[in-house]
Amino acid sequence: MPTSDQPATEASTTDSLVRLVIRQPDDWHVHLRDGELLKAVVNHTARQFARAIVMPNLDPPVTTMAAAEAYRGRIRSAVAPGLAFTPLMTAYLSDEIDPAEIERGFTSGVFTAAKLYPAHATTNSAHGVTDVTRIYPVLERMQRLGMPLLLHGEVTDRHVDIFDREAAFIDRVLTKIIAAFPALRIVLEHITTEEAVRFVEAAGPNLGATITPHHLVINRNAMFEGGIRPHLYCLPVAKRERHRLALRHAATSGNPKFFLGTDSAPHAVGEKESACGCAGIFNAPVALETYAAVFEEEGTLDRLEGFAAEHGPRFYGLPLNAGRVVIERTAWRVPQAIVAADTRIMPFQAGAELAWRYKGSLEEAGRAEHE
Ligand code: DOR
Ligand code: ZN
Repeated sequence: MPTSDQPATEASTTDSLVRLVIRQPDDWHVHLRDGELLKAVVNHTARQFARAIVMPNLDPPVTTMAAAEAYRGRIRSAVAPGLAFTPLMTAYLSDEIDPAEIERGFTSGVFTAAKLYPAHATTNSAHGVTDVTRIYPVLERMQRLGMPLLLHGEVTDRHVDIFDREAAFIDRVLTKIIAAFPALRIVLEHITTEEAVRFVEAAGPNLGATITPHHLVINRNAMFEGGIRPHLYCLPVAKRERHRLALRHAATSGNPKFFLGTDSAPHAVGEKESACGCAGIFNAPVALETYAAVFEEEGTLDRLEGFAAEHGPRFYGLPLNAGRVVIERTAWRVPQAIVAADTRIMPFQAGAELAWRYKGSLEEAGRAEHE
């Protein structure tokens, strides 16, 4: 078993590369849902990622240690036997949240981080924070504990254009939090703008950011190509092309402040294809493949491992995974839908042919080859 600090990438960016072996990655932002939907989606995440930061925006939201422990138990029971997967739980911050509960949850190892949803910013965020100053006592406590704060970075002011809400959040809220709590570790989640990239680059080492596969691939035109495309609607919404290019540059730059977070957010097809469709893109079935294609297109496959498997754990102060996984250059077609119980969920890139395919752990991929 290699020690966890050896570089593991066997990749080079030559045309002949057909197989990529990298340290097993983690997903630093995912929605696993609950009940039947959880069972339908969790193994798409667990087969690729060793760990995942699990979002707490259930209905009702995960605001207590007991709720997080129970949810963690349901996730573990839904993971297929043979897959080693560690769900890292998060607390949902609300105006009424008790700082002592957050501290107990963190010191006992149940909560890895806490998530701030501005009230009404997105799915199941009605109980979110109405004014960040209301939770200053919690942020004070988290700063002292070294507990990361995860941000859905959009203002909810209806007078701010939806495409400007992330930039406005940075100006109005994030700068305020950083000024008040300079030692607080903060992840600006699923960034979508050049402004966010620049802000994170310029900030101190306590600020990091996750980048989704879909924001590296689509710009806002994709939502309207030939008609309305509800399966490409998510929040924060995809922006102009110049923002997508800035995100691709940031993700593939090797800068350790940027790391993998899929924001895979499944909704049943009927909930998406509706007069008021839900926000969220289900990308778990194609996550690593999509990132690999982006890094290849940018000529930076040798940096995929850092983005996918090293920058995140280092930011969170967690050990790197020791295992290795294989991604192969093998064309395959993404299914039109994932069917589970009586629910259909449409994955990102449904029906498309992808160039890379995730093959499993190095051991599994080796076994498959000899069968
Ligand atoms: O598109 C999104 N979907 N953005 C979010 O912030 C929440 C998520 C969900 O839970 O569906
Ligand atoms: Zn999310």
